[in-house]
Amino acid sequence: MTKSIGLICGSLRKDSYNRIIAQALIDMDDSIKFRWIELKDLPLFNEDLEVDGDPESVTLFKSSVEEVDGIIIVSPEYNSGIPGVLKNALDWASRPTKSSVLHRKPVGVLGATPGGLGTASSQMQIRQILEAMQVHVLPFQKVLISQVHQKIDSDQKVLTDEKTQRYLQRYLQQFIHWIDHTPVLD
Ligand SMILES: Cc1cc2nc3c(=O)[nH]c(=O)nc-3n(C[C@H](O)[C@H](O)[C@H](O)COP(=O)(O)O)c2cc1C
Repeated sequence: MTKSIGLICGSLRKDSYNRIIAQALIDMDDSIKFRWIELKDLPLFNEDLEVDGDPESVTLFKSSVEEVDGIIIVSPEYNSGIPGVLKNALDWASRPTKSSVLHRKPVGVLGATPGGLGTASSQMQIRQILEAMQVHVLPFQKVLISQVHQKIDSDQKVLTDEKTQRYLQRYLQQFIHWIDHTPVLD
C-alpha cells in the first residue's frame, strides 16, 4: 500500500537549506505520498488557548500529523539546540498527553547546516523531546548534513551532492521499513 509521509521543516526561512533537503526526499521517490506539514501559522503554545478547544490552525496541524503514516522532521540547529518554532509545534502536537497525535507515530529526524557539526546537538534534543512524547523515533540512523551550502544549487534550490543523495535514499528506505515494523509496546 502507498505510504504517506509528512514533512516538517524546522525553519521558516524562505530559502531554507533544510527545506531544500526535505524537497530532495520528495523528488527521490514518487511511490510515496509526501505532504508538507507547515508550522508558520501555529500560535505560541499557551494552555489558556486550549480551554475553549484548539485554535483552527492547531486543529489543522494535528489532523495533518494524524493522517500520515510517518513524519520526517528536517531541521536546522539554533544555538546548539532545537529551533523554537519546532519545539512550539511539538508542544501543540503533544496535547492531550494520553491521546496525542504523535503518540507511537514513526518519526525520523534529519538536519542540515552550513556549519561543520551537521545539527548533531539539535537532533539529540529533538530525539529527547520525541521520546518524552512516546514517539517511535527511527533509532540508530543519523543524517547530519554539514556544509550544506556546498551541496546544493542555490539558484535552482536543489540538492546536487550525490553522496548526500545516496544517504537520503538509504534513509528513506529505512524509514519506510520502520513504518512497517514499529514495535507494538502497549
Ligand atoms: C539564531 C541562530 C542560531 C544558530 N545557531 C547555529 C548552531 O548552533 N549550529 C549550527 O550549525 N548553525 C547555527 N546557525 C546557522 C544555521 O545553521 C543557518 O542559519 C541555517 O541556514 C539555518 O537553516 P535553514 O537554511 O534551513 O533556514 C544559527 C542561525 C541562527 C539564525
